[in-house]
Amino acid sequence: MATTPAPETPQTWHYGLVAKWWSEFNRDGPEIAFFQRFIQNDGEPALDVGCGTGRLLLPYLRAGLDVDGCDVSADMLALCSDEAAREGLSPTLYEQAMHELDLPRRYKTIVVCGAFGLGSTRDQDLEALRRIHDHLEPGGTLLLDNEVPYADANVWRYWLKDGRSLLPESPEPSDSPKKASDGTEYRLSSRIVEIDPLDQRLTLEMHAEMWRDGALAAEEDHLLNLHMYFRDELLLMLERAGFDDVVVHGGYSEEAATSDDDFLVFVARNSRPVAPMPST
Ligand SMILES: C[S@@+](CC[C@H](N)C(=O)[O-])C[C@H]1O[C@@H](n2cnc3c(N)ncnc32)[C@H](O)[C@@H]1O
Repeated sequence: MATTPAPETPQTWHYGLVAKWWSEFNRDGPEIAFFQRFIQNDGEPALDVGCGTGRLLLPYLRAGLDVDGCDVSADMLALCSDEAAREGLSPTLYEQAMHELDLPRRYKTIVVCGAFGLGSTRDQDLEALRRIHDHLEPGGTLLLDNEVPYADANVWRYWLKDGRSLLPESPEPSDSPKKASDGTEYRLSSRIVEIDPLDQRLTLEMHAEMWRDGALAAEEDHLLNLHMYFRDELLLMLERAGFDDVVVHGGYSEEAATSDDDFLVFVARNSRPVAPMPST
């Protein structure tokens, strides 16, 4: 079966109602404290790549840490900025795709949480790692999490030919509605449209609805392309991008990764000594 090529522009669903959902309902998680320890431990300044609506960034700013953010979605950034402003905070935020990262500052820590491989091509993902490497101070640290491709049994069955013949999945009824701070209700429903195991690319579709006073006020459909990476190919990609010291943690813990972990955290450094200044 022919598959749809991934577009050059990152294809992600973090806009409009989905962005609003993130801002209202995705606000905690073990990642926040885990990554914060690295930043607090002589890891400033830091950059949160794919910062979204600020699930990590805002707690870090509240803790007084020097952290900038960047994201491809202007909608996610606007919601992050609005919430920061309400609290008297004014983060430096950049609207950039990570494979085009080009910022005026260098960082001791760069965090990529839940954002690597989203919307991009494999070449763009490698370029993103190179650019992140180049935005680190010498000896700086990249913290990057990645959900392993075999984490979700439903997704995994579609890697097989027989499974793929069942795609696209039928539209599912929406998840239970969630009430936002302004009283509106949000409903999301996602489905798998396509999977290309050769390219390790998954295409998902999201139907988002916003209800006000019992009536449908807005609805949107978005697509998300994502690449699924195994541990060892990410290690090779990090090495090609210039990192020479990489440790893989299991989940958001100090433990080494095992085959039972659904999320891996790559702690990547460039340990090469800084080249001495030429003598005159
Ligand atoms: C799953 S959300 C995670 C947001 C945030 N890091 C967190 O953990 O709450 C993914 C974010 O990555 C952003 N994103 C997706 N593809 C991107 C790309 N190629 N470059 C930069 N940001 C991207 C999305 O716009 C979205 O805000």
